[in-house]
Amino acid sequence: MNVNNDVFCINYKKSLQYWADIPPTVDGVLGGFGFISDVDIEGSELFLKALFSSDNPPSTKTALDCGAGIGRITKQLLLPHFDLVDVVEPDEKFINSIKEYVGEQASKLGTLHRVGLQEFVPMRKYDVIWNQWVLGYLKDEDLEAYLIRCRDSLSPTGIIVVKENVTSSGKIEKDSTDSSVTRTFKQYIRIFKKCSLKRIKQCKQTNFPNGIYPVYMFALVPNHKELEQSLVKTTTALNNSCKIAQNEMEL
Ligand SMILES: C[S@@+](CC[C@H](N)C(=O)[O-])C[C@H]1O[C@@H](n2cnc3c(N)ncnc32)[C@H](O)[C@@H]1O
Repeated sequence: MNVNNDVFCINYKKSLQYWADIPPTVDGVLGGFGFISDVDIEGSELFLKALFSSDNPPSTKTALDCGAGIGRITKQLLLPHFDLVDVVEPDEKFINSIKEYVGEQASKLGTLHRVGLQEFVPMRKYDVIWNQWVLGYLKDEDLEAYLIRCRDSLSPTGIIVVKENVTSSGKIEKDSTDSSVTRTFKQYIRIFKKCSLKRIKQCKQTNFPNGIYPVYMFALVPNHKELEQSLVKTTTALNNSCKIAQNEMEL
């Protein structure tokens, strides 16, 4: 684990191959840490409830579970709160296990997208988009483009949640086993800012065993002020280039 080397590069095919050999169980999707699932869900539940009781809460119509595995979060966290939950998961065996794993709540499952997040384009508006233990599989440029697509597919009071490991070393750590990275806290903050996403809540998961990475939850919404400013800049630049073209035509 955690091989630091300069030539390391995330390889989507290698990650898929890694997950193809993992059994479709809670222990499998949590890399042998199945015993932390209940505590993890409790922490997420508190976080989600805090978002529901905020001044501008998300609606409870549609949620999206990204990198869903067998649907652990869909079943235990999202389906009890939302009318409909879509999932994105590239592994065939995992996605085929979701309906059975979810059981009696399966009627509230929406579309199961079998695709990597780097290629996924949301087709409807979501109230909550939950990303957990998956963003380390994306290259920075793909992560940014993906977060922007998520940002633009939120319903008016929609929220993106990111729940990820961060390194305590302050440096990015690379794992050649599953071709993933663990980013630093600062790297995530920089990426959110670059995508014009504003943090409205953040929380460190508690009661996890010692010796694992710190896990943070972030609630993100579009930074409308920044987006409007960049729209004004683009419009001004376009108007100016039109004026130049007009002047050239008149010459
Ligand atoms: C550690 S598991 C977490 C599963 C689930 N989020 C959970 O917490 O139970 C990582 C999941 O990400 C999926 N994954 C890996 N690369 C991905 C990618 N590029 N896009 C979407 N999902 C990916 C894997 O197939 C696996 O199901």
